[in-house]
Amino acid sequence: MKKIILDVDPGHDDAVAIMFAAASNEIDILGITCVAGNSILENTTQNALKICSFIDRTDINIYAGSNKPLKRKLVTASHVHGENGLEHSGDEIIIPNKYKLQEKDAVDFIVDSCMQNKGITLCPTGPLTNIAKAILKEPHIVNNINEIVFMGGAAMTLGNITPAAEFNIYVDPHAANIVFNSQIPLVMMGLDVTHKVLVDDTITNDILSIGNKSSKLFRDLINFYSIFHKEKYNTTSSPLHDPCVIGYILNNKLFSGKKANLIVEENSELTMGKTVVDWLEVSTRTKNCLVVNDVDSDNFFKLLKDKFSLLP
Ligand code: RIB
Ligand code: CA
Repeated sequence: MKKIILDVDPGHDDAVAIMFAAASNEIDILGITCVAGNSILENTTQNALKICSFIDRTDINIYAGSNKPLKRKLVTASHVHGENGLEHSGDEIIIPNKYKLQEKDAVDFIVDSCMQNKGITLCPTGPLTNIAKAILKEPHIVNNINEIVFMGGAAMTLGNITPAAEFNIYVDPHAANIVFNSQIPLVMMGLDVTHKVLVDDTITNDILSIGNKSSKLFRDLINFYSIFHKEKYNTTSSPLHDPCVIGYILNNKLFSGKKANLIVEENSELTMGKTVVDWLEVSTRTKNCLVVNDVDSDNFFKLLKDKFSLLP
């Protein structure tokens, strides 16, 4: 069983990632930490509580983390996820009164967990602010963390929030560089691979055929989430970014890439948040990250369906 901490900014694809992980007996979710990103922290925390309530997993502790990046002004993605960060056509999800955020701050939870347990895998699917703050607060956690499998960046593809940058890294490039320079083993699930995990009506209907309430929520979430992508890119499908992190945790053989140097632009406004990946090894910089750029998407979606069939 793999011990993970999910660090999220739900967000529709974060929500699917939470459901995917919670359905998997191979994964022990030690806790879910929330960060501002797709929406403000008040929304991302509420949305995490909603998703865990919906799948009857109020045993999972949820922690509030950073409400803004280390240095930059918060940029959200309400144009994709709606004002509350998780807009959808389904019924409002009720959070049981007893299910509250933990008192402990997310950063302290990450530090304490990583100091008390060796071999934790951190799974951030939002801006890396919480992770960076944990490393700054207690540098010794670096030696205990198994690896960080994160959704973010773009090695050889264009950005999705600026021409140069992917959203998670763009929101907090300074945090990203702290994480990328930490010596912790890194696995980057960037747009190069997440843009190959494309959910369309065929896939949505296949998941829906499971017939449980979680498959219906998946349909409702994707229906809203796909509005932006279909209009913006004139496509019939949408990239399922964050669940790629969980797919990798469950079966990394579905994915491929190469180790390369990864560093982030944190000064130029033109290329702010650009993940500069030395894929062609033209520098002598340390290969600090496994940069994933390919996936067996058919078997990814089979795995996703298998796990969703285990949910309520
Ligand atoms: O660029 C896509 C990423 O930004 C995803 O994690 C999405 O949820 C948003 O956080
Ligand atoms: Ca996210």
